[in-house]
Amino acid sequence: MDTPALLPLALALVAIPITIFLFNRIRLGRLSPGPRAWPVVGNLFDITLVRCRCFMEWAGKYGPIMTVWLGTSPTIVVSTSELAREVFKNLADRPRNHSAERSSRGGTDLIWADYGPHYVKVRKLCNLELFAPRRMEALRPISEDEVNAMVESIYRAVTAPEGKPIGVRKHLSMVAFNNITRLTFGKRFIVAAGELDEQGCELKAIVKAGIKIGASLPIAEHILVLRWLNLVDEELYNAHSARRDRFTRRIMDEHARELERHGAKQHFVNALFTLRDQYDLSDDTVIGLLWDMIAAGSDTAVITAEWAMAELVRNPRVQMKAQEELDRVIGRGRVMLEADIPNLPYLQAVVKESFRLHPPTPLMLPHKASAASRSPATMSPRAPMSSSMTRPQCLGQPTAPLEYRPERFLEESIDIKGSDYRVVPFGAGRRVCPGAQLGISLVASMIGHLLHQFTWALPDGTWPEDLDMMESPGLVTFMATPLQVVAMPRLDKEELFKRVPVDLS
Ligand code: HEM
Repeated sequence: MDTPALLPLALALVAIPITIFLFNRIRLGRLSPGPRAWPVVGNLFDITLVRCRCFMEWAGKYGPIMTVWLGTSPTIVVSTSELAREVFKNLADRPRNHSAERSSRGGTDLIWADYGPHYVKVRKLCNLELFAPRRMEALRPISEDEVNAMVESIYRAVTAPEGKPIGVRKHLSMVAFNNITRLTFGKRFIVAAGELDEQGCELKAIVKAGIKIGASLPIAEHILVLRWLNLVDEELYNAHSARRDRFTRRIMDEHARELERHGAKQHFVNALFTLRDQYDLSDDTVIGLLWDMIAAGSDTAVITAEWAMAELVRNPRVQMKAQEELDRVIGRGRVMLEADIPNLPYLQAVVKESFRLHPPTPLMLPHKASAASRSPATMSPRAPMSSSMTRPQCLGQPTAPLEYRPERFLEESIDIKGSDYRVVPFGAGRRVCPGAQLGISLVASMIGHLLHQFTWALPDGTWPEDLDMMESPGLVTFMATPLQVVAMPRLDKEELFKRVPVDLS
């Protein structure tokens, strides 16, 4: 090809990025600094697997407020308490990608709803009814029962003749799964042998398929042109949606019959039956809400509890101090109850420090400024934008922010449920997590029982510095390498390790 023929191509290569830059400048105004973005793909190919670590490194270079281009969408990433406050206060909508749009039926649930009359109504239902303290109190025996079941299965595993190091995640996950399904659907989907029943297998399969579908289009989602090309397999979404509806309606029918025979129970399906007319809830909203609870309440507590156990085996001093407190307050003649937690300040500090250093969603859920409201002046004067947080562990922590030191919560009173912007594992402001107290109590109960009933150590030949403390890729940050530990029973009487089942469903 001769030179004149190449000229239009060369001109296009220069003109396209300049045009995009000028177009964005007019559309969005002046943006905060950030890594250099490529046309169309933005920074998508520069972001490393563990996104929260990548953003932290970039924040070191570009400052506490930076712009990262996820394809053609600008995202603001902030990393100070003051900026976090602005985000939580001002950006109350959610940016929905295609899967969020489809799974939430256009934001008719809670998690993906934009801030507006629908959101306010459903949030009120959560605050005043579903998560009301009296309902939580009535449902408390469920989590105690599940934590006791976990202790029993760990006891069996560690006292078996072939007793080996155990993976704690499996045991913690069982507690969280059973707890959230009993709370939400009023059912424990486990048959006597400890295996899932048919409905339980179907529920797990639906959750797994939802995650798979959600992850199948990560790049195309962010690029306008590809979105137009409609690469989405609509049939797959429809089939998944129908399967989820079938499952939920079957459970709802079962409960409708139960309700007639035995009267109202406290779990969420029952509560929604009773309240749907009063709150004028559509079928989509009821189903969406139930699945929001399953999505938000299954892994979050497990993630922080597993990280907490890793910190406790790396820091035997902290483990012993917590155990001394448990022995002093409870003794060794009975097991811990959730009602003991207010009398265990060091255990509470361990839980808060674990949430601070290892929040399950370090980048939060995305927030967006609504089209009507303008983004705060520090962000963009014009654009509705989504935002993320980076390394929330470092917010407002002047000393050793990355060190695991529960004492910091004894030296100063710091709330972690959203009223203090220095520690925000549950977010803050209008979209703060409605399940925060539930999550904290569950983690406190799991960690309290594990420390009271067992002494924990690393397997022979493993040293604290060998532990892989890297997060897994994804929106939620499990330990990249599941924790393996050795447990030795601490209580003398064998019956203290036995579950006494509670039937609330
Ligand atoms: C144990 C740990 C948990 C952690 C760390 C956690 C964290 C979070 C975070 C960071 C958000 C986003 C807040 C924001 O956008 O500003 C959130 C939202 C939410 N969480 Fe949790 N969560 C936990 C447990 C739960 C549980 C047990 C439930 C329900 C049973 C729950 C239900 C929700 C719901 C429905 C939302 C959406 C709220 C909204 O958009 O208005 N979470 N959570």
